[in-house]
Amino acid sequence: MEQREPGTPTVEPLQLDQGFIQDPHRLTALLREQREPVRPVIMPRGLPGWLITGHAEAKAMLADPRLSKNSARIGELLPRRPTATGGAATEDSRALAEHMLNMDPPDHTRLRGLVNKAFTAKSVARLRPRIEQIADELLDGLAGPARGAEVDLLDAYAFPLPITVICELLGVPEDERGSFRSWSTTMVSAGSAEEVAKVSAEMAAYLGALIEGKRASPTGDLLSDLVHVSDGGDQLSRGELLSMAFLLLIAGHETTVNLIGNAALALLSAPDQLAALRADPALLPGAVEEFLRFDGPVNIATLRFTTEAVPCGDHVLPANAFVLVSLLGANRDERRFAEAGRLDVTRSASGHLAFGHGIHYCVGAPLARLEGEVAIGRLLARFGDTLRLAGPPEQLRWRRSTLIRGLERLPVSLS
Ligand code: HEM
Repeated sequence: MEQREPGTPTVEPLQLDQGFIQDPHRLTALLREQREPVRPVIMPRGLPGWLITGHAEAKAMLADPRLSKNSARIGELLPRRPTATGGAATEDSRALAEHMLNMDPPDHTRLRGLVNKAFTAKSVARLRPRIEQIADELLDGLAGPARGAEVDLLDAYAFPLPITVICELLGVPEDERGSFRSWSTTMVSAGSAEEVAKVSAEMAAYLGALIEGKRASPTGDLLSDLVHVSDGGDQLSRGELLSMAFLLLIAGHETTVNLIGNAALALLSAPDQLAALRADPALLPGAVEEFLRFDGPVNIATLRFTTEAVPCGDHVLPANAFVLVSLLGANRDERRFAEAGRLDVTRSASGHLAFGHGIHYCVGAPLARLEGEVAIGRLLARFGDTLRLAGPPEQLRWRRSTLIRGLERLPVSLS
């Protein structure tokens, strides 16, 4: 990262630490105020890169074909981590990471084309009654013995809702969902290299068996469809099926959990907005966009690197530089959204980058929007008048991840 193109000002890289993870908005606001929407940084685990916190710059980088997500090449650029794929890794577990979010065209284009149809607004709209039913059942559970007591809204509501939805959609049987939460937490944030390798092997073995079951007898779900897909004669290989199932399961709930959790926290911290939404539930779809903009579930988008020198803002990013696009930062850029640091459920938040932008724009966005709308709508309809934070907001801790923006716990009381 030392090497710079002529004309690029020399700036000392800024160390991103746990303070950044606990309060990314403070630093990204400072950078934008100092007119440094493009800034060399060092990530908490030592990775150097360029942090992009301006909306226009972020949007441009996400759509720029000179940036690549090719996982093999990213692997070559990354500093060696001990035994990341050692010991427990199998051919199948290595295949898990070779999914479309880690690919460039034309491989990405082909795989994306095969799943797109399942997630259009029209396809997911028919899931609404079932999602409402799941939300209501979970809220029934809270209304019973837990009423009056402190509950972790993430554990009791925000987590089980999306995991149930994505497992039902893919066709993961109910009694086999037990390990998913810890698997997915290890994969996304907390895991050491050894833990990640162990969990990858367990997930690959589980998903491999699930896929073989659906090959033998299809069960009318998305995974069965993918196993039997035949698009102009095209078929998914075993490795492609494994990595697609893995990607959909992880991406399908790690983020939506935090849409629900972050939205609940935002509303509990802004009683006037909570009241406005309760008074007029027709505001809900727009409010979900505003929750995504105000404090979305993804902080820094997944890793990209430059394949050649790329101008960005006042800089020229050199070839082979990591580009860290802060979606949280971009979404609070005052040049794009007036009073960006204020939650306003009546504003038009369209144009936010919470789902990314360009060819990797979230394929699950219509499903996530629907889940967010149902989850927050049902929660407010049932407990809107009594829901409170159970402790001082300063005590809330955020997960130790630069990818996911989500709380460790969200203790609330319901009466
Ligand atoms: C991609 C956010 C829910 C599946 C992405 C990206 C973002 C994102 C930012 C692009 C990452 C990048 O370019 O580095 C979110 C948010 C969600 C959500 C904020 C919830 C509020 C879902 C759901 C599913 C899903 C429910 C699936 C059912 C995917 C997939 C990709 C993706 C498969 C990769 C797309 C590609 O590479 O073409 N998501 N997501 N996401 N998301 Fe989501």
